[in-house]
Amino acid sequence: ASTLGASAAADGRYFGTAVAANHLSEAPYATTLDTEFNAVTPENEMKWDAVEATRNTFTFGSADQIVSHAQGQGMKIRGHTLVWYSQLPGWVSGLNATDLKSAMDNHITQVVQHYKGKIYAWDVVNEAFQDGGSGARRSSPFQDKLGDGYIEEAFRTARAADPDAKLCYNDYNIDGVNAKSTAVYNMVKDFKARGVPIDCVGLQGHFNSQSPVPGDYQANLQRFADLGVDVQITEMDVAGSGTAQANSYTAVVNACLAVSRCAGITVWGITDKYSWRSGDTPLLFDGNYAKKPAYTAVLAAL
Ligand code: XIL
Repeated sequence: ASTLGASAAADGRYFGTAVAANHLSEAPYATTLDTEFNAVTPENEMKWDAVEATRNTFTFGSADQIVSHAQGQGMKIRGHTLVWYSQLPGWVSGLNATDLKSAMDNHITQVVQHYKGKIYAWDVVNEAFQDGGSGARRSSPFQDKLGDGYIEEAFRTARAADPDAKLCYNDYNIDGVNAKSTAVYNMVKDFKARGVPIDCVGLQGHFNSQSPVPGDYQANLQRFADLGVDVQITEMDVAGSGTAQANSYTAVVNACLAVSRCAGITVWGITDKYSWRSGDTPLLFDGNYAKKPAYTAVLAAL
């Protein structure tokens, strides 16, 4: 096939991108999105500060814009994200434990119900583990006040609100076999053993020279898949340019295709000019929406 989405679909997978609602009115942005991709993730519009800046007052306008655009194009939608320490309104961090638990449950329930039936997969909890060798949980209002159990509480609450959406745990620096990915692995294994509802692990896939695509990337995807969950590459971008960048993209696509439970790949933006990694050129289309060597490599590998 001649586009990323169609090539991935021919193999039962999706190829998605992060989308920002405020760029949808830019013609080449929307055209590239609609031509090349068959899945979207709202880049910021579904985060807690965007949808519930004030307690129990929900604002879905920008996220709805992306969802209706995607639905009109028959695209899958990844919901991102329900519980995360970042882009969290100040009022949440100020709550005591009892209040925080009910605010978290209410947030999950309201947001997931609003999009019930429309979301392919939710990133229920994002970035809950520390970097480095400890394998410990990252400090956050949720972790510090509710303890380890907040993650399973979040997954159970999301399942109750939309039983048909896949529920993912999402994180970065879990691409290879390392202490952080093993901590996530152990959590997923425990959830599966105890019947806590989890369907997928999202590996963000933000690569650069300090964290290149690891040699054991495919093996790591496979060990998660072997626990009985899907794996999804959820936020891929690769610092750099030219052949080196193209080769990293190829390695990730090949690894995903080699793992039957690798459901799809999402890149974290369409064009370099709107990448969150400002000053870098980590995506598949340049600032003028021209296809880069990385694009050609991905299409060839898919
Ligand atoms: C980033 C967005 O791309 C930026 O626009 C925003 O300012 C900060 O967040 N991991 C995630 C994403 O899970 O939500 C982050 O997105 C990038 C890192």
